[in-house]
Amino acid sequence: MNDWKERGIDPADFTQLDPVSAEGIERAVAIMRTGRLFRYSDGQPEDSEVALLERDFAEYLGVRHALAVNSCTTAIELALIACGVEPGSKVLVPGFTFTAVPSAIVVLHAIPVLVECNEDYRLDIDDLRRKITPETKVLLLSHMRGHISEMDAIAQLCAVHGITLIEDAAHALGARWRGKQIGSFGKASCFSFQSNKVINAGEGGILTTDDDKIIVKATYLSGAYEMNYKKHFTRSPLFEEFAGRLPARNARMTNLTAAVARPQIGLLEEKGRRYRQMYAYLKRELTATNRIEFPQEYPHETRIPDSIQFKVPGYDAAQMQTFIAQVRKSGLPLAGFAERDNARAFYNWRYLGEDMPDLPRTKKAIENTCDMRLPSRLQEAHLAYIVAAVRSALHHVDAMQRMAVA
Ligand SMILES: Cc1ncc(COP(=O)(O)O)c(C=O)c1O
Repeated sequence: MNDWKERGIDPADFTQLDPVSAEGIERAVAIMRTGRLFRYSDGQPEDSEVALLERDFAEYLGVRHALAVNSCTTAIELALIACGVEPGSKVLVPGFTFTAVPSAIVVLHAIPVLVECNEDYRLDIDDLRRKITPETKVLLLSHMRGHISEMDAIAQLCAVHGITLIEDAAHALGARWRGKQIGSFGKASCFSFQSNKVINAGEGGILTTDDDKIIVKATYLSGAYEMNYKKHFTRSPLFEEFAGRLPARNARMTNLTAAVARPQIGLLEEKGRRYRQMYAYLKRELTATNRIEFPQEYPHETRIPDSIQFKVPGYDAAQMQTFIAQVRKSGLPLAGFAERDNARAFYNWRYLGEDMPDLPRTKKAIENTCDMRLPSRLQEAHLAYIVAAVRSALHHVDAMQRMAVA
């Protein structure tokens, strides 16, 4: 480790988060000085940092409307309700996603129907086809860890069966399929600004759509009571039509969160380029060990890979545990999807009760898979350190194996 220290490596670098930019800090402080933290404090959308964030985000994504809320989970709930999901509705959802996603379905008393994922963490299209029934109204598709599923096949199946697609793009902001922004395929799409995501605002989420009815319903549901919809940039005669017809919960974002998030939109493309370089280096060097397998990349996807996932084939559960523990000793926050209580392993979503299916393919896909977030400011030496730490952990497990055999 001393060598690495000399090369400027501090293990704390691997858990760094993106700092708030000077512009974000200035805007947040200016807002605090006025006390106008509430998005509806002022009469005009131009005066609300939240409305400006919505305008800029929609423009970045190339969609007509955006609604900023307090989390991606909330955005998903509002999208589901706005798309007509009711108690008892069946909603297709990947079996490999974060627990918040099926939870958003369950809290609406709807029924999640889990679809298998394949060895590359994408939706298993054959299983999707099998699980579509005449009752299926909605597919809530997570682009888990930014790996993009076969969007052509999914769009076609949704069109043929009259299924509404909602994208959970919490991990896929800035990603593209055939050059088209992820989050512009669904009837509605949802993004997260929680600290571990490519836009870090602590917490926060945003719902996007091209559909007037969806944005009007979601805006009312988010808590745009009385005539506050006029303080959004979205204009639609449907606001009059739906006035008073939807329950108004409070899912609103504050101006402070928006001030922190908004300047980060302009950094996304550069961040994407840097992440793609880091990912290519790590994939090349770790694959060269002949012990590590990265998921296949799909030809039409462009990702912002702010994390890595890889398998160590051939290790049993105990060896995986030792391997992960050994890497962690180097200060790297490596996790295993199959670790106890991991919130991305479907068999830990015990609240599903009798709706918990058996998903052998998904289980196998996540079984030997490691997962690690990459801070955006890692340098070449940090990447070399990751490779060295993984190689050293492989040697450690192999040495233990040899000792056990001898
Ligand atoms: C795939 C996925 N979808 C949705 C969410 C929910 O995001 P939020 O924390 O903003 O509610 C998360 C959270 O990490 C996630 O990982």
